[in-house]
Amino acid sequence: MSLKGKKIVLGITGSIAAYKAPHLVRLLVKAGAEVRVVMTSAGSQFVSPLSLATVSKHPVLSSVSDGATWNNHVELGLWADAMLIAPCSANTLGKLANGLCDNLLNAVYLSARCPVFIAPAMDEDMWHHPSTQSNISRIKGFGNHILPVGHGELASGLTGDGRMAEPEDILQFLDGFWSISSEPLRGIKALVTAGPTYEPIDPVRFIGNFSTGKMGIAVAEALADAGAEVTLVLGPSNLQTSHSKVKTVHVVTAQEMYDACMDTFADCKIAVLAAAVADYRPIAMAIEKIKKLDDEFNLQLTKNKDILASLGKIKGPGQTLVGFALETNNELEHASGKLEKKNADMIVLNSLKDEGAGFGHDTNKITLLLRGGENIELPLQSKKIAAHAIVDKLIKLRYAEEIV
Ligand code: CTP
Repeated sequence: MSLKGKKIVLGITGSIAAYKAPHLVRLLVKAGAEVRVVMTSAGSQFVSPLSLATVSKHPVLSSVSDGATWNNHVELGLWADAMLIAPCSANTLGKLANGLCDNLLNAVYLSARCPVFIAPAMDEDMWHHPSTQSNISRIKGFGNHILPVGHGELASGLTGDGRMAEPEDILQFLDGFWSISSEPLRGIKALVTAGPTYEPIDPVRFIGNFSTGKMGIAVAEALADAGAEVTLVLGPSNLQTSHSKVKTVHVVTAQEMYDACMDTFADCKIAVLAAAVADYRPIAMAIEKIKKLDDEFNLQLTKNKDILASLGKIKGPGQTLVGFALETNNELEHASGKLEKKNADMIVLNSLKDEGAGFGHDTNKITLLLRGGENIELPLQSKKIAAHAIVDKLIKLRYAEEIV
């Protein structure tokens, strides 16, 4: 359950459904949440503050000042990971919609920076009244989450809409909210390249580089942690991942890496190319081992396909492409050139000049270069943390373009 450790302010207002509040608190506490109850004075006529203090294990607050002490609504609003108003009466809905602040509950609501969940409860005609419905639209427009009302027997004796969502359903709603927002890339496929490529010269020799694949594997795992289904195209590396959401395709040469990427990219919304791909390969691989004969030996090389640039050419709307740049001089200039030339959305720059950055280290010092000239310089940090920073920025980019 994703409610474990969550801090929740439960606001209770004047509705008969308040009698369900102790049960709701019990369920929240059982799921591992910490609950502080704030009530309106009308709320306390329907359910005893003593019962709620007992089940929540904290005093119940109801007014901005209890005579000698002042209850800090700002502190409570900032403390909370979520505010839940259940039941929320028609009267309180009206206040929330208009920013009125005549009690502690409303003050906490106005101070809260966390998500707010509202479970309305009232009689059917009150619920369907245009002023209630217009308040609901307004409150939704502020970014609050309205839980659906139930249909059934009402306190008035009528049967219809307006019942507060059942405590079990409220719990499921909150749990669903947190499990989705902790996996913002759920349902999205991503492609990551990592490691070096080896370009065979003869059956025993190759052209390669010092890349270990550590950074790319960390990116693949960070994407998977965010919920993505990742295909990791990995060059020859001693490292591997056992993350259940990462499928590894092993390749050796740049051409094999290119083919694997081309097979995968069309289905992917995100591609992060972290591999150190050999730029050139021998024109032909010798079938037999090359013998040591002359004092000089010339090897003719030909250019490999640029995978990032090729994906940049076929990238469609809704696909986000990230490349890496490992530089030794004029770093920003070279890296921003790659952003343009390869049609990437972001380039992760690391410089071999920075101590602790680059091949083999557990740490990296990266700068994120974005379209429009934004550069985000990050400190030297572990490759795992750097990978999460890359993924966080990528998610923000996609949210900004509304393509998540
Ligand atoms: N890249 C690629 N295919 C290649 C060469 C590079 O996909 N054949 C990708 C790398 O994975 C990286 C980015 O392009 O994401 C930049 O790689 P880098 O080696 O820094 O740049 P190059 O384009 O090879 O340019 P140069 O070596 O001249 O700096």
